[in-house]
Parts: sequence; structure tokens; C-alpha cells
Amino acid sequence: MKIAIIGTGYVGLTTAVVLAYLNHDVAAVDKDESKLTLLHEGKSPIHEPGIQNLLDEVWHTIRFTPSASEVVPEAELILIAVGTPPKQNGEADTRHVEQAAGEVAEVCLPDRHYTLVVKSTVPIGTNQRVVEVVEDVFSARGIRGNVSVASNPEFLQEGLALQGAFYPDRIVVGANSDAAIDTLRRLYQPILEQTFDPPSEFPRPSTYHLPPLMTTDPNSAEMIKYAANTFLSLKISFINEIAGLCEEVGADVTEVARGIGLDARIGQQFLRAGLGWGGSCYPKDTAALLGVAAQSGYEMPITEAARTVNFRQRERIVEKVRDTLGTLKGKTIGVLGLAFKPNTDDVREAPALDIIRELLAEGSIVHAHDPIAIANARQVLNENDEIDNNRLRFIEDVDELSYDTDALLLVTEWESYHKLELRRIAKQMKTPVLIDGRNIYSPEEARAAGFHYIGVGRT
Ligand code: UGA
Repeated sequence: MKIAIIGTGYVGLTTAVVLAYLNHDVAAVDKDESKLTLLHEGKSPIHEPGIQNLLDEVWHTIRFTPSASEVVPEAELILIAVGTPPKQNGEADTRHVEQAAGEVAEVCLPDRHYTLVVKSTVPIGTNQRVVEVVEDVFSARGIRGNVSVASNPEFLQEGLALQGAFYPDRIVVGANSDAAIDTLRRLYQPILEQTFDPPSEFPRPSTYHLPPLMTTDPNSAEMIKYAANTFLSLKISFINEIAGLCEEVGADVTEVARGIGLDARIGQQFLRAGLGWGGSCYPKDTAALLGVAAQSGYEMPITEAARTVNFRQRERIVEKVRDTLGTLKGKTIGVLGLAFKPNTDDVREAPALDIIRELLAEGSIVHAHDPIAIANARQVLNENDEIDNNRLRFIEDVDELSYDTDALLLVTEWESYHKLELRRIAKQMKTPVLIDGRNIYSPEEARAAGFHYIGVGRT
């Protein structure tokens, strides 16, 4: 199938590469020149495990262009995967989606049928808005046009994007037209029926079952996306709230999570207590959902509480460091991990940034490490000129970072941090304090290695 994808961010590029791998004829449109330059050289502008290798494999088949008019007229299906950044009040800004829809409608041929698919995460009612934008452009052009608009929310996780794209739990399509649903069913047929040969880096999991294609109305599809992300964010905030109480009463939240997760109705996943959620999705999407609710005059206290609990985790960890050391002023704190989660260099809404800001505000010296996110963190922290560079150093070697520090604070659970030689590190610190913000170490082992160990929700 001939496909045009508007936007080459995480969602757009992953989708482009995967659909090309499935033998679709893919063109990707992006106005960002720096991204296009990289893509024209065959380099992925995003860091995502496996994406470069897959791009190498399909690169020669994908056309990357700044101009929708070059590729849209010939396409059968057009996917919009542009950003919906938050406005000042938290609502999602759909300007880029509407603009993309307008540009598509400008170049559609009057005698052809197109399926226009919104993949971006958008407030409920955006699909209808896109229909109106397209109709407005057609009437301005004096043509009838033939475009079916569908919503097809994306559920990929950063760091696991390709795995999620090849082996999704479900595919959701919201559309009022059978033609659009049929086109999307054909698009995803190789995934729905798992008829493709898996790429070597992404073998089909032996327990994987064929995913359902759920069809529904556009508003419900849009709501499914927000409700899914909000539910997952609630689950994490819930276990973090329980973690706080575990500390008060002397229980271990990792044991509690294991115990409740064994109930199939609850499930084991997304019950890891720690520093809570960051990234480009949960913070933005929970705020956007509250924005949608506010517009209807509807209150969502559970979602609001999830946000409160989440951001409180960042303050609580700084309190722990302060309480343990007596003061933060003049203390050197080694921060392990800057990315909002492992396997990505994404620092958007990352807990580490707020934590570093607070440590610096209280007079600490911060030595920060991350396997790949230092450049992004440096850029964000420098951007607003908000940090005292004399007291913040980014260090690429954990050994060097830990030397003479007063405390180590683990913020992101990178695989390499699991393998640190704790005994040696403890010895070279000024005071061997380990605050484990993600509960990745065994308290017993850390203590045996000489650390004063403090986790989250563990006594
Ligand atoms: C999330 C959803 O998982 C995807 O399904 C969705 O498509 C995506 O948002 C999106 O809307 O684009 P993502 O933000 O990439 O994906 O990352 P997650 O793996 O969900 O993790 C989010 C945050 O929750 C991370 O900061 C992680 O450290 C934290 N987390 C996760 C916990 O604190 N505890 C857990 O048990 C799980």
C-alpha cells in the first residue's frame, strides 16, 4: 500500500520503518531540516533500540521529503503523526495536526479516495475537527474530494517501540466509514495475522497471541488513548502512595507489589515503586485529559491525585538525601541516570531534572551521569539558564563520579547500574550513602557492600 506519514518523531519514524519492513511503499514527510538531513544520510534522529539497524534495512525503500505535495496525491493512506505539545494551561495543542490535515487536503486529487489517519495523541473531538478542516479546504478549492478520516492511537513505549509495533496488544481504529476500517485492516494485516518474517533483533515472543483489531467510533478511540495512559499512570502513583505508607509502618513495597500483582485482576506490570513517571506522555496526557474534563466542567479527582503523588516522589527523594546527610548545603551528590527511563536519551519531564534543580537550589554540588542522555540533559538545564554550572558537572564515568561524593542517588534504572561494583564504589565515597530511587539493589547486598542504603517504600 502507498502510504504517506506526516511527522518523523518517535511515532512517525517507528511507524515508517515498520511499515516499510512489512513491504508497504512508505514516504515520510517532515519540515525539520536537521531531521531530514540525518534521514537522507540514513541516520535515525531518535535513539531507540534496534531502529538504526531496521532503518539500514529499509532506508532505500523509504522516501523522506519536506513536501507533502510530492507524496500525498499518490498515497492511498496518509498518517498524521505530528506533535501535540501542551499549551500553558495543560491542554493539548492540536495546531500541527490541523495544519497537517489542511496541507493534505490542499493536495488531494479530487477523483481519488484517501484514508486520512490521525495517530497523534489528541483530545476527544479532534477527529471531527480534522473532518471539518478537510471539508473547509475542499470547499475553498471548489472540489468535492473523497477523504475518510480515522483515528488510530499509538501505544508504543519508548525504548520498546519496535517490539510494541511488531507485537502490539491490540490495534484500535476509530472511524465512521467502512472504507477507512478496511484500508487500515489491510495496512495492518501482516501484524494482525503475524505473516511477516520477524527481524532478527525482534523475534516473535513464543507466548504472543494474534492481536485484535478493535473498531469503534472516533471519540472513543481518542478517549481510549488518554484513558490507557492515565490508567497506567494511576497504577504507578498508587504503588508509590502505598510505598510511602510502607515506610511509615515498616513494610516492603516490592513485596507488596509482588503480592498484589499475583492477583490476575491487578497484574504484575507497572507496579514498580520509585520516582514515578516522566517522559513525553503521562505528564502531558494526564494534564490534557484534565483539560478536556475542565472544558466539560467535569472533575477528575483521581487523575489529579495521580499527578500530585507522582511529582511528590521527586520532593520526597530529595528529603531523604537531606535527612540522611543532615544538610544538602555543600554536599556532593552523585546522580545516576538523567533519562526519564532506561534505553532512551529522552529527558522530557524526567525526574532527574527536577531533582537536580532542587539539589542545586539547596546548595549541593551535583555530579550527574547517564549512559546516553547527558547531551540532552545539559541542553535542557542550560536552556533556561537556570543552573549554576559551577556546581553541576556531567561525568561520563561512574567511578569518577562516585569518588569523594557524600551520597549516590539512583534516578534511572539503566542496566549498567545493576552491574556496578558496589563494594569498590562505597570505599571511594566520602560517606557511602546509596539512595536507590528505583529499588534496583538488594538492601542486604548494598549494606554488605558497605552502604547506608535507602530505597523507596522499603525499611
Ligand atoms: C507510555 C505508555 O506506556 C505507552 O503505551 C504509550 O504509547 C506512550 O506512553 C505514549 O503515549 O506515547 P512511555 O512514556 O514511553 O510510554 O514509557 P513507560 O514505559 O510507560 O514509562 C513511563 C514512566 O513511568 C517512566 O518514567 C517509568 O520510569 C515510569 N514507571 C513505569 C514507573 O515509575 N513504574 C513502573 O512500574 C512503570
